Amino acid sequence: MSTRDALLASVSERVETSGNKVSVVGIGQVGMACAFSILTQNVSTDLALVDCVAEKLQGELLDLQHGSCFTKNAKIHASTDYSVTSGSRICIVTAGARQREGESRLDLVQRNTDILKFIIPQLVKYSPNTILLIVSNPVDILTYVAWKISGLPKHKVIGSGTNLDSARFRFLMSERLGVAPTSCHGWIIGEHGDSSVAVWSGANIAGVNLRKINPDIGTDKDQEEWAKVHRQVIDSAYEVIKLKGYTSWAIGLSVAALAASILSNSRRIHAVSVYVKGHHGIEEDVYLSLPAVMGEDGVSDIIKQSLEEEELERLHKSAAIMHEVQKNLQF
Ligand SMILES: NC(=O)c1ccc[n+]([C@@H]2O[C@H](COP(=O)([O-])OP(=O)(O)OC[C@H]3O[C@@H](n4cnc5c(N)ncnc54)[C@H](O)[C@@H]3O)[C@@H](O)[C@H]2O)c1
Repeated sequence: MSTRDALLASVSERVETSGNKVSVVGIGQVGMACAFSILTQNVSTDLALVDCVAEKLQGELLDLQHGSCFTKNAKIHASTDYSVTSGSRICIVTAGARQREGESRLDLVQRNTDILKFIIPQLVKYSPNTILLIVSNPVDILTYVAWKISGLPKHKVIGSGTNLDSARFRFLMSERLGVAPTSCHGWIIGEHGDSSVAVWSGANIAGVNLRKINPDIGTDKDQEEWAKVHRQVIDSAYEVIKLKGYTSWAIGLSVAALAASILSNSRRIHAVSVYVKGHHGIEEDVYLSLPAVMGEDGVSDIIKQSLEEEELERLHKSAAIMHEVQKNLQF
């Protein structure tokens, strides 16, 4: 087997696409942070916003349009009517209820599933070749629901997943080590939530594996208590929600990075929520985050990480939790 085949599990064929239109459904704190990041980082010059509250839509539209002199004069449209999303390369879904203080992401599941049942068919009707990027929580389960409802191929239905958790992890590594977050390499996989998995076996700086320096890293025996870094990642959203009521900027930036990777066909690797049945021995019909190669057709390949026994066990536990919640869903 070639190195490439040993590393990558292909999940899509290459296709030609054009335009850079992005639609954002749900213009709350998260949707607007996504829209703002996409505009200010010139990820797209063609943006459509949809929400069920017409006045708020109009207000956000005007406010963004008034900033046109300071961006690349993007076309921005907004409507409660989904025809405004027509011809989108990417549809980002952030609509729905958010966690209240102390509430877990899984608590939101049926409420947000019901919202997706309306939104997804509308998006696919107007953009049959779109890539769906689901952000609403619980993101792994809602990405599965969106895939089922949409009829789109699985590599075109992606959840923002642990792209944000991995970024939080790298930031916290950087705080401990005094190295820029972009030079700290560590992956959070599995659920975007309480059962996420920190891949301690692969955490490295410039190829120096941290477990070689500290064999106990991430375990209870570790004198430096690095496991607390993963705990902090899990608690991050709860902490920010407790302090300011919602999370917005970091998720907006992380979603803009995913959109940029798709629109520029960058083939960058992100931890995103993908259909994982058959990967790492997972037997459940679920979406969870794994490092994935992203380009113009969505996810083209999933990286076959060499996980240690304990990491695999945790990943399988994450899959079982998702499946347990999913099986009682009405959609
Ligand atoms: N995946 C992640 O990493 C991540 C991070 C942060 C938040 N989230 C999730 O994103 C979602 C949005 O969070 P928020 O803080 O922006 O909430 P918010 O309450 O500020 O905004 C939600 C928006 O959705 C709109 N909406 C509700 N039902 C709709 C429908 N049927 N059609 C169209 N629009 C509808 C509301 O009018 C509102 O504008 C939540 O589910 C939250 O948990 C995910």
